[in-house]
Amino acid sequence: MRILGINALYHDPSAAVVVDGVTVAAAEEERFSRRKHGKRPVPFSAWELPELAAAWCLDQAGVRPEELDAVTYSFDPALRLPPTQLGLFDPWDDLRQDYAQRAPEFLATALPGLEASRIRFVQHHVAHAASAGLAAPFDGDCAVLVLDGRGEQHSHLAGRFCGGALHTLYSQQLPHSLGLLYEDATQHLGFLRSSDEYKVMALASYGKPRHLDYLRQFVHARGDGGFHTSGVEWSALAPKRSADQPWTAEHADLASSLQTVLEEVLLALADWLYDQTHARNLALAGGVALNCVANTRLFTESAFDQVWVQPAAGDAGTALGGALYLAQRLGDSIPEFPGADLGREWTDEELETALRTANLPFDRPADIADAVAEELANDGIVAWFQGRSEFGPRALGHRSLLAHPGRESNLRRLNDVKGREQFRPVAPMVLASRAPELFSRGPIPSPYMLFVHDVAADWRDRIPAAVHVDGTARIQSVDASSEPLVARMLAGFEQRTGLPVVINTSLNTAGRPMVDSPRDALECFGSTPVDLLAIGPFAVRRRSLGVAG
Ligand SMILES: [Fe+2]
Repeated sequence: MRILGINALYHDPSAAVVVDGVTVAAAEEERFSRRKHGKRPVPFSAWELPELAAAWCLDQAGVRPEELDAVTYSFDPALRLPPTQLGLFDPWDDLRQDYAQRAPEFLATALPGLEASRIRFVQHHVAHAASAGLAAPFDGDCAVLVLDGRGEQHSHLAGRFCGGALHTLYSQQLPHSLGLLYEDATQHLGFLRSSDEYKVMALASYGKPRHLDYLRQFVHARGDGGFHTSGVEWSALAPKRSADQPWTAEHADLASSLQTVLEEVLLALADWLYDQTHARNLALAGGVALNCVANTRLFTESAFDQVWVQPAAGDAGTALGGALYLAQRLGDSIPEFPGADLGREWTDEELETALRTANLPFDRPADIADAVAEELANDGIVAWFQGRSEFGPRALGHRSLLAHPGRESNLRRLNDVKGREQFRPVAPMVLASRAPELFSRGPIPSPYMLFVHDVAADWRDRIPAAVHVDGTARIQSVDASSEPLVARMLAGFEQRTGLPVVINTSLNTAGRPMVDSPRDALECFGSTPVDLLAIGPFAVRRRSLGVAG
């Protein structure tokens, strides 16, 4: 079966193509349109489709729109309740409903040759669940938790995959929503809702959870698989902050309290699900599943042996999940998730042409991984553009900014390069074979940066730029079999410095999507004090440009 998956209605529009059960391509619209998150998460943008991502995915798969067996759309308007019954008091919900119902016609227009009758609506949280449960690298059945902002009527799904079929055990009805709760706090703390929730998680490490008694009155698991979240008055905990004001201890304490209560609720939901299923393994999806601090608590404190999070856990992943769900229903078997590098790539010849077009001096080292290791060891900052771009919000060694972890000042330096807040940590990538020596508590391997780990006491001073204020790090473990080039770079860096770790953050500047194309890479390199751009086998060096490095 040739299936195109579409996510469009709320956040992070995206597309994926699944052919005979195999994920061939997946990409977010923002990487093409160069608008962060693809569009604003407001009702009047709900009609916007990931048309560029969809066209590219089809092209990558060699499938024309008329050859598709089906297109999935990860929201089913037939399941939605009237706004008055949802309890969200959103005056625009009818408009959103109208857009969803018209999506087949819109898609048929955006992709000439596609018949509108091929479009199938998939329940939003079923698409989330399938993106994790069907793709997870588990043998056999698993439990699944979707932890989200909102779908048609619900904000969460607890279930089990048996033989590829999803059995839903509980769905929490709106307006109670852990995702919307976290978004409300994000907005109150002066950050952008539906976008900057990870900043609240980072800020939580600077605070004390001194509002737990208050928050627990309104935010708690109910013991029946569901939870309660409404009634919090954020102003009772900390004054509302505007984006240009500095944050204070009160804001950090609010973030810390919310984070702690969220973790408590998630642990209770996981315990309930384990009691229902006695499954060994748990798959997670939904925007809340990008909360790597909570994920580690689920890994260490729940009864499940393994916890796996689909790297595009937010709404972008429902494009993939919808397509996988339908493929499985139509008889295709679904192999293990192939890795997050599902986006665009360029040949060496194309990259060389881009460099010549830009009239930039560049060289082709004998081994780009070794040249980068040398630059990093000399404390240079490297823009690393290699292979297919990543699906999901994390840079995983394909579109990354890299630096030496041994100098504490490099955290400030990288945050300055990116123009972002100084309280934000940057994450280490580490050779998988060495990871257990440096990091503990979180799962290893951890290839997608979706869990936090404790940094061993005797390593904290050796890699200070990689250690968050609370002594943790959100690692990416790198296996030489799946990421040979990154592993070789790490090994070269270790040879020179004795450190098997490099710090890694996404290749973009604040407010912009991650770099995807060679042009994006050159624009980013040209506007930031990066010392070396490693683009395919080529090196562009700032000092060769006749400017200070
Ligand atoms: Fe969602």
